[in-house]
Amino acid sequence: MAIFVTGGAGYIGSHTVIELIKSGYDVVVADNFSNSKREAVKRVKELAGKDFSLYEIDVCNGKALDKIFTIHDIECVIHFAGLKAVGESVKKPLEYYKNNLNSTIALSNTMIRHGVNKIIFSSSATVYCPDNKMPLTEDSLTGGCTNPYGWTKYMCEQILTDVVNAGSGFTAVMLRYFNPIGAHESGKIGEDPQDIPNNIMPYIAQTAVGRREFLKIFGDDYDTADGTGVRDYLHVVDLAEGHVAAVKYAAQSSGGVDIINLGTGNGVSVLELVTAFEDATGVKIPREVVSRRPGDIAICYAATDKAKNLLGWETKKTLKEACADTWRWQKNNPGGYGL
Ligand code: NAD
Ligand code: UFG
Repeated sequence: MAIFVTGGAGYIGSHTVIELIKSGYDVVVADNFSNSKREAVKRVKELAGKDFSLYEIDVCNGKALDKIFTIHDIECVIHFAGLKAVGESVKKPLEYYKNNLNSTIALSNTMIRHGVNKIIFSSSATVYCPDNKMPLTEDSLTGGCTNPYGWTKYMCEQILTDVVNAGSGFTAVMLRYFNPIGAHESGKIGEDPQDIPNNIMPYIAQTAVGRREFLKIFGDDYDTADGTGVRDYLHVVDLAEGHVAAVKYAAQSSGGVDIINLGTGNGVSVLELVTAFEDATGVKIPREVVSRRPGDIAICYAATDKAKNLLGWETKKTLKEACADTWRWQKNNPGGYGL
C-alpha cells in the first residue's frame, strides 16, 4: 500500500515525502515540474535513503492517473499539486481555475474508479473571510476571497465536500495551512521560487544571500503592535508531520469531511520575523517600508485546538529554528536547485 503524493516535488510536498518515508510509508510521487525541479526529488531520495516511483504527469490528465492507480496499490492521496501565486492568479485567473479545479476533479474521479477513498487536500488560510475575529477557528466565516487563487481553494474544498456528501464513502481532510517557512535541517531541500518571491521568507533569504537589494516591508501603519502585518509562521517540517498525522487519522476514519487548521497559534509581525532571522543567522537584512500591498490584512493566525484534538499534532519547532534552517538552505544553494 502506498501514499500517492501529487505535487511531491514542490516545497511542502518534498518535505512531506521525507516525513512519510521516515514514518514507514511507501510513496508514489507525481509532478509536472511546472513549479519545481527534478533535483528536489533526487535529494529527497538521498535524504530519505529510499527510492520511490516518480511520474512526470499533469494531474489534470485522468488517463495518466489511471495508469498510476493501476500499477500501484494506493491507500491514500495527498493532493499538493496546484498553482499558488496570488498575484499571478489575478493576471491569469483561467489558468488557476483550470489547473487547480481540474486536477482535483480528475483525481477524485480516478480515486472513485479505483476504489481509493481517502484524500488529504492542501487548503489555505486564504479561504477565510478577511474580516473574521482572531484567532481563526475552522468555523470562522469563509469566502469573500480577494483573488482567484483563494477562490480555487474555496471551490476545491466545496468539490471534495460534495464528493463526500454523494455517499462515496470518501474521507476528505482539508488542511488549511497558515504561513509555512523554513527548510529541512540538512540544508539540502527548501523553498525555491522560480521568480521574484511573493512570500516574505524567501524574499528575506534571497536578500541575505545578495540576490535582492533590500526587503520591502509592505506597510507599517497597520493596527498591530509595531504597525507591520502579523502572520502565523510554521516550520515546513512541522507542517509535513501534520500530513503524516492526517494520513493516520484518515486511515481510521469511516468517511466524512474534516477541516483542520495547521498553524502555530502565534502571531508574528514582519519586523519580529526580520529580527528573528537576523538573530538566528547574524546576517543584517536591509529593509525599507513601502506602501501596503493590496489585498493584505493586518493580522492572521490560527486556532489550533482542532489539530491537537483530532490529529494529536502541534508545532514543535521555533521561529529561530525556521530562520536558521532557511538560511542553511539558501546559503548552501544560493540559486536554489538551479545552481
Ligand atoms: P509548490 O509550487 O512548491 O508545489 C506545488 C507542486 O505542484 C509543484 O511541484 C508543481 O510543479 C506541481 N504542480 C502544479 N500543478 C500541477 C499539475 N497540474 N500536475 C502535476 N503537478 C502540478 O507549492 P507549495 O508551497 O509546496 O504548496 C503546495 C500546496 O499547498 C499547493 O496546493 C498550495 O496552494 C498549498 N498552500 C501553500 C501555501 C504556502 O504558503 N506555500 C499556503 C497554503 C496552501
Ligand atoms: N510582506 C512584506 N514584504 C514582502 C512580502 C510580504 O512586508 O516582500 C508581508 C506581507 O505584507 C504580510 C507578511 O509579510 O504582512 C506575509 O506575507 P506573505 O506574502 O509571505 O504571506 P501571506 O500571509 O500574504 O500569504 C500566504 C500565502 C497565501 C496563503 C496565505 C495563508 O502566500 O497563498 O499565506 O496561508 F493563502
